[in-house]
Amino acid sequence: MFVRHTLPGERVRAKVTETTKRFLRADAVEVLEASPDRVVAPCRYAKPGRCGGCDFQHVALPAQRRMKAEATRDQLVRLGGVDPAVLADLEVEELPAVVDGQHDENLAQGLHWRTRVQVAVRPDGRTGLHRYRSHAVEPVDNCPITIPEIEAAGAFRTPRPGRQRVEFAAVPGRPGVAVDGDRELVHTALGRQFRVSGGGFWQVHPAAAEVLSAAVLEAVAAQPGEQALDLYAGVGLFSAALAQAGCTVTAVESFVVAAEDARHNLADLPVTVVAGDVAEQVGTLAASADVVVLDPPRTGAGAETIAGLLSGSPRVIAYVSCDPATLARDLRTAREHGYRLRSLRAFDLFPMTAHVECLAVLEPDPS
Ligand SMILES: C[S@@+](CC[C@H](N)C(=O)[O-])C[C@H]1O[C@@H](n2cnc3c(N)ncnc32)[C@H](O)[C@@H]1O
Repeated sequence: MFVRHTLPGERVRAKVTETTKRFLRADAVEVLEASPDRVVAPCRYAKPGRCGGCDFQHVALPAQRRMKAEATRDQLVRLGGVDPAVLADLEVEELPAVVDGQHDENLAQGLHWRTRVQVAVRPDGRTGLHRYRSHAVEPVDNCPITIPEIEAAGAFRTPRPGRQRVEFAAVPGRPGVAVDGDRELVHTALGRQFRVSGGGFWQVHPAAAEVLSAAVLEAVAAQPGEQALDLYAGVGLFSAALAQAGCTVTAVESFVVAAEDARHNLADLPVTVVAGDVAEQVGTLAASADVVVLDPPRTGAGAETIAGLLSGSPRVIAYVSCDPATLARDLRTAREHGYRLRSLRAFDLFPMTAHVECLAVLEPDPS
C-alpha cells in the first residue's frame, strides 16, 4: 500500500483511494503517532484529496532530502544494477537560497522556487492545479512554491474561460511574465545573458543553472582544446559553460525556437548549434567528442541514443537527469557498452516534491 501524506515510522488512519491487482493507494487522513520529521504544511492545499502537486509539504526539508536520496539509491540499484558502493554516500544537496546575490528566506524554506508553472483550468474558467493522479482541478488562490511574480500576474486568480491549461514563466525579480511563451525572458547565469523565447526550457529553480553548470564542469574537468557535445542543449546553458572552459562545442536541440536562441546566446563562443533530433545526430557527432553532456527530458535518452553516443568512445560523460528511473535504465545500457558510473550527485531542485535532479558521471570501464 502506498500511503500519501504520511512519513516512515508514523501510525496513521488511512483511506484507500485506488485499488489495483498489485497494490493499493491511500491517503493518511488522521495521524495517530507523528514522526519527528513532520511539520505543518506551508500550503493549505496540500491535503488528502486536494492539490496533487507536492508530496512532501508535511516533511521537514532535511528529511525530504534524506527520503529522496534513499529513493534515488533504490531505483539506481534496483532498475540500473548500479553498484551500491558507488552510492553509499549519496546525499541530496540543498541549493543556495540566493537570488541576485541576496539571501532569500522563502527559498531557504523550500518555497518561491518555481519559475515556470502550468495551471489547469476548469470548464467554468476557474484556474487551479491538478489533484493527485487526476484530471480534476483543485481551485487554488496561491501556490507557495511558485515565485510571487507569477502569482502577481494572476496565474491563480484570473479566470481563463475556454482554456484547459495555461503556462506561466518568469525571471525572479524581473518584470514581465511569459504566458504560454508569448514573450521572451532573459535569464542570467555564468556571467552572461540567455534569451529564452516561445516557451523554451530554462532550469526552473532560480539557483539551478549555476549549480548544475558548476557541477558539470567539475565532473568533466574539460581541457582547453577538447571537443565537447551538449545534447538536449536547450538555449545553450551547458554549451556556454563548456566553451568558457576552452572546449569547442557542438550543441544539439530539437526545438527550433530554442536552437535559434542558443545560436543568439552563444554567438561569441566556439559553439555550433545543430537544430535536430539527438537520436538522428548522435552517431555522426559522437565520433569526435572527448566530453559529452546530456540533459534529456524525463523520458531519458533511450538505448539507441546511448549506444550511438558510446560508439564514439568519449573520455567522460555528464548525464543530467530529472528522473532516476530513466537514468537507471540508461546507465544499464551504458554498462552493456563498456561505460561505468564513476560518481553520482543529486540536487534538491524541486523542494516539497518527490522530484530530484541527478548528475551521473560515466567513464570507460577499464575492467
Ligand atoms: C531538460 S531540457 C535541458 C536543456 C538544457 N540542457 C538546460 O539545462 O537548459 C531538455 C531539452 O531537450 C530538448 N529535446 C527533447 N527531445 C529532444 C530530442 N529528441 N532531440 C534534441 N533535443 C530534444 C527539449 O526541447 C529541451 O530543450
